[in-house]
Amino acid sequence: MSRSPRFLAAFEQGAIPLEGPILIIRPTEFAGLAELGEPVLEQGFAPLHRRFETGGFSVIPRAEGRFETVLVQLTRAKAENLANIARACQMSEGMVVVDGAKNLGIESLLKAVRQITEVQVISKSHGKAFWFEAVAMPEAWLLAAEMAKNKAGFFTAPGMFSHEKVDGGSAFLAPYLTGLSGRVADLGAGWGWLAAQALSAEVSEISLFEGEHIALEAAKLNITDPRAQFIWADVPELPKSSPYDTIISNPPFHQGRAATPELGVGFIAAAAKMLQPKGRFLMVANRHLPYEAPLDAHFRNWEMKAQNGGFKVFEASLPKR
Ligand SMILES: C[S@@+](CC[C@H](N)C(=O)[O-])C[C@H]1O[C@@H](n2cnc3c(N)ncnc32)[C@H](O)[C@@H]1O
Repeated sequence: MSRSPRFLAAFEQGAIPLEGPILIIRPTEFAGLAELGEPVLEQGFAPLHRRFETGGFSVIPRAEGRFETVLVQLTRAKAENLANIARACQMSEGMVVVDGAKNLGIESLLKAVRQITEVQVISKSHGKAFWFEAVAMPEAWLLAAEMAKNKAGFFTAPGMFSHEKVDGGSAFLAPYLTGLSGRVADLGAGWGWLAAQALSAEVSEISLFEGEHIALEAAKLNITDPRAQFIWADVPELPKSSPYDTIISNPPFHQGRAATPELGVGFIAAAAKMLQPKGRFLMVANRHLPYEAPLDAHFRNWEMKAQNGGFKVFEASLPKR
């Protein structure tokens, strides 16, 4: 079996033209992209967006307009995938290609599309790619991925972290957000619930740093307070600065399906870079994640304020520079 990406085999077998403009929704890897000429990439996750941009690709957080062919690469959220297929059909003047691994649910998407139109399929590398001529897809596929208020009364959409309800870790951290004043930052702010809990009267400014463009758009709807600023960024790559009196965070610990505690370590290091010398860093983490050594490495002082069956809350101060 050849090691070239599945979608290239689909373009080849389907004799899908490479001349016209091609849009790729949610690519994560470089492999095979250059073979599609000069595709436009839709990637709203800041770290990947930056990687592709640095690699010389034209990248946008959210695409609009018309393309000859649209390739959809799957995320973990089924509703987001269905909506992306429907959007691909709206934007394509020719073919739509859908590419994904079995564990991202390609089978069920194939079944859903097959009920609407005729498709061609190849199976390769623990997944499938299928392609079809763009047709109108059910309105419900678009609506299901639109922002809507969740149980907590906050706007969210499928695909965002804990979009249906407040995350248990954030809820555990919230009571410790006391005595906040001056400039506050939330690293990995998602759709903004934690930042909203931090907005006491004494806070002069709150900066929400978030990597997912769409989550930040939700946060803008959820926090309309003029003291809030919204910054789309790859947190571990933020430049060194020290303006914040308090930094709060419920850092990410998953990339795709894999648990990656190093992500949280990057957030701890960023907090140390961005905190006033006399500032405080308050974070929550899943209990099993080993953040004690990185806290030691980046702060002179830290303590575990609380723990329960699932989470632990840390407070750190005196950042090491
Ligand atoms: C555990 S969630 C917490 C979200 C939010 N604070 C809450 O309590 O619901 C971590 C957040 O970090 C974001 N994230 C992941 N990697 C990131 C990165 N490199 N830079 C910025 N944000 C990132 C995720 O999109 C997610 O919204």
